[in-house]
Amino acid sequence: MTTSDESTAKQNELIETAGKVLLKNYLQQPTVMARGSGVELFDVSGKRFLDLTSGISVCALGHAHPELSACLAEQTGKLLHTSNLYFIEEQITAAQALTERSFADRVYFCNSGAEANEAALKLARRYQHVVRESPERNLIVSTEGSFHGRSIATVAITGQDKYRSGFGPLLEDVAMVPYGDLAAATAILEKRTACCFILEPIQAEGGIIVPRAGYLQGLRAVCDATDTILIFDEVQTGVGRTGKWWGYEWDGVTPDVMSMAKGLGGGVPIGAIGATEKAAEGLTFRQGGAVPHASTFGGNPLACCAASNVLRIIEEQGLLANAMTVGDHIASRFEELVQKYPDTLVEHRGRGLLRGLVMKDLAGPTYRRCREEGLLVSVAGGYVLRFAPALVATTDNVDEGIAILDSVLKNG
Ligand SMILES: Cc1ncc(COP(=O)(O)O)c(C=O)c1O
Repeated sequence: MTTSDESTAKQNELIETAGKVLLKNYLQQPTVMARGSGVELFDVSGKRFLDLTSGISVCALGHAHPELSACLAEQTGKLLHTSNLYFIEEQITAAQALTERSFADRVYFCNSGAEANEAALKLARRYQHVVRESPERNLIVSTEGSFHGRSIATVAITGQDKYRSGFGPLLEDVAMVPYGDLAAATAILEKRTACCFILEPIQAEGGIIVPRAGYLQGLRAVCDATDTILIFDEVQTGVGRTGKWWGYEWDGVTPDVMSMAKGLGGGVPIGAIGATEKAAEGLTFRQGGAVPHASTFGGNPLACCAASNVLRIIEEQGLLANAMTVGDHIASRFEELVQKYPDTLVEHRGRGLLRGLVMKDLAGPTYRRCREEGLLVSVAGGYVLRFAPALVATTDNVDEGIAILDSVLKNG
């Protein structure tokens, strides 16, 4: 047996074992990734992949970024966990880094996007119940086509039935309005029964839907007029993904609360919410009561070391500007493909490095063929092929990916 035969056999063996020991909830591609470097991944059999999906918008600095790896190695040798019974230096530093780069006055850390949204919802409910003394304002308003996570509360506020069905009865007091429809949002918020309105500045999993100019500003005005907490779910759009630190910057409007995760840890699991001083009151501890919200692992030294350094490296290496330039390049290369394959492709959309190529048919087969040919992309909203590379990606990386995609499209 050659070394290559052995590693292929090892990969097959691992996949077979996975079939026996893992819950069968995922729909995995038959590949076991072994290591990465920048925008390249190598599987256990040694096959190289060009990764233009970066762990579904997570690995902001690419794989095994030398500087981030060194910081994490040092932190691992120093301190991993203490709990929130004490202050944590790395957590304070990460919160400061986030407040300096966003609208937020205060930050709470957790471990994932769904948890961040859970925290945001709890904040909004308690803000109305306890701070505003309006316990009748229970309603959570969300948008059709949205995706906010997989916990029992976040599936309830996710506006896609496929994620909700089978899990009922779901959280009550949730209303869905069409994304982009300011009149529908206004009509429901003016009743003053809602504690919050939650939405993504770009609907990512829903198919890279960019709202029209003025929508977020309109929502801001209605939320101000009705004292409704405006929550932006920046789990996917945040941390430079769209070429700006936060997706909301494109619309010149700030929320009361935003949720973050994905890119924040550069691959280390972390979630967070940022809030204005006023909104943060919603989760403020009150003497005599219980701690209103907490997480065992939330804000631990390792995760926060990752977050601070991801933010620092993005800034020092000019990666926001790079995301904008490389994102524009993806857009122009997508446009060429749309012109070249009018029977297969409909249009492209997105901002920065969150880009979707809309197909006439389901994008799954193209996504699988791309992987077979060594290109990793992902699917959003069924019909949309998503490019979401690391912020360190280059125009050459994009061109290599487009060449593979082009040949896949050509061969049907
Ligand atoms: C906008 C948005 N919110 C929330 C989530 C859930 O994040 P997590 O999987 O970390 O819980 C996702 C994940 O894709 C997301 O895209």
